[in-house]
Amino acid sequence: MNELKHLAIIMDGNGRWAKKRGFLRTNGHEVGALVVEDMCEYCINNNIEILSLYAFSTENWKRPKSEVDFLMNLLNKFLISRQEKFINNGIKFQTIGDITPFSDELKKQIKILKNLTQNNSRLKLNLAINYGGRDEITRAVKKLMQNNTEISENSIKQALDEPCDIDLLVRTGGEFRLSNFMLFQASYAEFAFTDTLWPDFNSGHLDIIVKDFKNKNRRFGGL
Ligand code: IPE
Ligand code: IPE
Ligand code: MG
Repeated sequence: MNELKHLAIIMDGNGRWAKKRGFLRTNGHEVGALVVEDMCEYCINNNIEILSLYAFSTENWKRPKSEVDFLMNLLNKFLISRQEKFINNGIKFQTIGDITPFSDELKKQIKILKNLTQNNSRLKLNLAINYGGRDEITRAVKKLMQNNTEISENSIKQALDEPCDIDLLVRTGGEFRLSNFMLFQASYAEFAFTDTLWPDFNSGHLDIIVKDFKNKNRRFGGL
């Protein structure tokens, strides 16, 4: 049975979920944000150590300003409303991605939630915001060069926002692509793609995927 230490999810399909129902795309994001809680609970109950969730990519700034503004607002509300839950449930909140372009208010709320949950150890939740795999690798190499550290596979890995390899990478929403998510860490990840749109996704769906993952023959290039 494979151990599942690091689960990563590309939470895709919010807009299509909303459109199908005649709602605004933004309603899809609102409902999608609620699914996060169920995922965290599943991870805690199944001894998964790290959950990385793709929430906003370095490319998502291309969307209409109104949608980007809505997402930033939703993120702010999410950070504030999760404080008690994360503290009580032992969730250590982290972000991956470059948060420098975010508003001062958002940066403040990120810092508060990180500080409040820094000693928690039941689950590490990485929220990927303004995240791009290429950007992460580029920032890691720049950091190493600034510190005059030797460039090696291991030093690059350690300088990433999240150094841990992904065991299982799930993408909802029916597309078969990485969209610049955790390129380095996904090198030997098992992939699971589902047509289920993110707001419809739940721990029951995830459990089927995880059970399947546990029985996969992971060879890592060996026999
Ligand atoms: C994923 O849902 C959430 C973000 C990228 C912010 P989408 O907004 O990409 O939804 P679809 O893919 O258009 O349905
Ligand atoms: C990937 O979804 C990013 C997130 C889920 C945050 P996108 O909807 O942005 O990806 P593409 O554009 O379909 O590749
Ligand atoms: Mg999408």
